[in-house]
Amino acid sequence: MNTSIFASAKKITTHVLQEMKHQDEKIAMLTCYDYSMARILDQAGIDVILVGDSASNVIAGHKTTLPITLDEMIFLASSVMRAVNRALVVVDLPFGTYQGNSKEALNSAIRIMKEAGADAVKMEGGQEVVESIHRILSAGIPVMGHLGLTPQSIHKFGTYVVRATQAEEAERLKADARILEEAGCFAIVLEKIPAKLATEVTEQIKIPTIGIGAGGGVSGQVLVLYDMLGITQDFSPRFLRRYHNLMEEIEGSVQKYINDVKVKEFPNEREQY
Ligand code: KIV
Repeated sequence: MNTSIFASAKKITTHVLQEMKHQDEKIAMLTCYDYSMARILDQAGIDVILVGDSASNVIAGHKTTLPITLDEMIFLASSVMRAVNRALVVVDLPFGTYQGNSKEALNSAIRIMKEAGADAVKMEGGQEVVESIHRILSAGIPVMGHLGLTPQSIHKFGTYVVRATQAEEAERLKADARILEEAGCFAIVLEKIPAKLATEVTEQIKIPTIGIGAGGGVSGQVLVLYDMLGITQDFSPRFLRRYHNLMEEIEGSVQKYINDVKVKEFPNEREQY
C-alpha cells in the first residue's frame, strides 16, 4: 500500500523531492543494478533508485567500491533505466572518474546521462569536489552529494566505523553540507554519522538529506537492496533492517530444483511438449 501524498506523481523529479521535504514526507530510496529488480521497485512505488557503486561489492564481488568502472556503471544504469517509469534514477560517478579535475568529472557525468539516460548523478565529498559539481551543474545535470562515511575514501579512513563523532569532523561535515547546498546539489546522502548530527544538518539546509545509518531525523532513507532483502549475509551493521531472508529462500529453491532434476521429477508430463 502506497500512503504517499505523491503517489499519483507520474514521475519523481528533484523538485518533487524538495516538495517532499517541505511537506515532511519521507523519501524512500533503494539501490538497484538491473532491469528485472528495477521493474519491481518502480511498480512498488519507490521514490528514488540509486544505481550505486556498491554494485562493485554486491554484483562484482570486489572488497571495496573502488574497482568498478564508468563503463560498468553505464551498463548497469542503462539496464535499470529501461525498466523505470516513475522513480528518479540517480547514478554514482565511480571512483577515479571525477576526482582528477572538473573537466574529467563533467565528461564522466555526460557519459552517464547520454549513454544510460539517467536522471542525475551522485558524487562523494564536500569542498574538495565543489568545482566539479559547479561544472556538472552548469551542463544541466542534477547532482546528489554524499557525506560522512564515503566508501570511495575507505583507504583514507582505514575503517568503516561511524564518522564525525568528534567535533572537528562534525563541523567540517556541516560546513560541507552548506557548501553542497550552495553549489546547487538537489539532495545529500549522509552515511553512518550520529543521528543528532544528521538531524542538525537536515535542519540547517533546505535540500533533502537521505540517510543510511544516520537515524530518523533526515528527509529520507536509503539501503542497499541486496542487504535489505537478505541476499547478502556477511554484512550486519546496526542500521541495517532486513525485510527478507532471500538468501535462505533462494538456496532452498535451488536445492529443491537440483533434487527434482536428480530424481527425474522435473520436468513432469505437463512441463514438456
Ligand atoms: O553505492 C551505494 O550503494 C551508496 C549508498 C550506500 C548510499 O552510495
